Amino acid sequence: MKILVTGGAGFIASHIVDAYINAGLDVFIIDNFSTGRRENVNPKATLIEMDINDEKVDELFKKEKFDIINHHAAQMDVRFSVDNPGFDAATNILGSLNLYESAKNHGVKKIIFASTGGAVYGEQDYFPADENHPTRPCSPYGIAKLANEKYLFYYKEVYGIDHVALRYVNVYGPKQNPHGEAGVVAIFINKMISGSQPIINGDGLNTRDYVYVADVVKANLLALNENVSGIYNVATGIEHDVNFIFRTLKELTKSDCKEIHGEAKAGEQRRSVCTSGKIYKEHGWKPDVLFNEGLSKTVDYFKKNLR
Ligand SMILES: NC(=O)c1ccc[n+]([C@@H]2O[C@H](COP(=O)([O-])OP(=O)(O)OC[C@H]3O[C@@H](n4cnc5c(N)ncnc54)[C@H](O)[C@@H]3O)[C@@H](O)[C@H]2O)c1
Repeated sequence: MKILVTGGAGFIASHIVDAYINAGLDVFIIDNFSTGRRENVNPKATLIEMDINDEKVDELFKKEKFDIINHHAAQMDVRFSVDNPGFDAATNILGSLNLYESAKNHGVKKIIFASTGGAVYGEQDYFPADENHPTRPCSPYGIAKLANEKYLFYYKEVYGIDHVALRYVNVYGPKQNPHGEAGVVAIFINKMISGSQPIINGDGLNTRDYVYVADVVKANLLALNENVSGIYNVATGIEHDVNFIFRTLKELTKSDCKEIHGEAKAGEQRRSVCTSGKIYKEHGWKPDVLFNEGLSKTVDYFKKNLR
């Protein structure tokens, strides 16, 4: 089976590429290295350095006749999307459409899409959110992810291309970029082991649901199966606040940094937590890695790979 993984030099998709290669798939990667890293690229994959918006995408699809696309390339910073909604839409909506049109033109059977739990639901009416929770994205990033889900529905109804949209909660683990705005786990660990001072935004009581990257990879392997189709949360159903993460990581890294709180970031959701009951009931997926265990594995990784 021939599969194209977009964003395969990035944090999450590079783990997915490794798993697909281990499963014996013929894997191609498109990445423009805007945030991806060359050392993340599995040497057994065929790397095409290209922007998903490039008009050459169609030629590539014509030549390679992919069976499946796994679409992870994106502008993935929620705060950046608030300041730059046009750039966000150009990548996350128009770039996706460029891929979906080529998929339609050249016989792709299925699209696996990296959507988002927290940003698509917005402020929640109930906790944890299931897939039927109202979608009220309150950022250009969340709007673009939801738009992709709607387009995927359209391509299925009108052109028969199947899809799986995986609504991840906050993903963490080895290889996450510790220098971005998002990814509190990687940011804190990197600062703690390099001896600089992490800052907790606001009172640190905002909560999120954190899923370990290996569990996300497991969902992407499952999504290859013909009987898996539609929208699924990929979540743990458990929320943790930032203070808890700070204190746990301080212990794990043996850091002597202080607990310092800065300004709260405007527009941050207070609580976000999702249930993955649907994907468990229908296909048996559940997270294997407990939060403390995942944090400990991530600390071990960053100790060996300080960036
Ligand atoms: N990290 C999370 O917690 C999280 C949660 C929900 C959804 N997601 C989604 O998962 C996907 C991967 O996120 P990540 O955390 O691994 O981020 P990442 O920034 O590490 O990976 C994104 C990859 O896409 C590439 N890319 C970006 N724009 C591109 C373009 N125009 N053309 C080609 N390549 C491009 C980047 O170079 C990078 O390699 C994204 O779609 C993101 O929105 C992430």
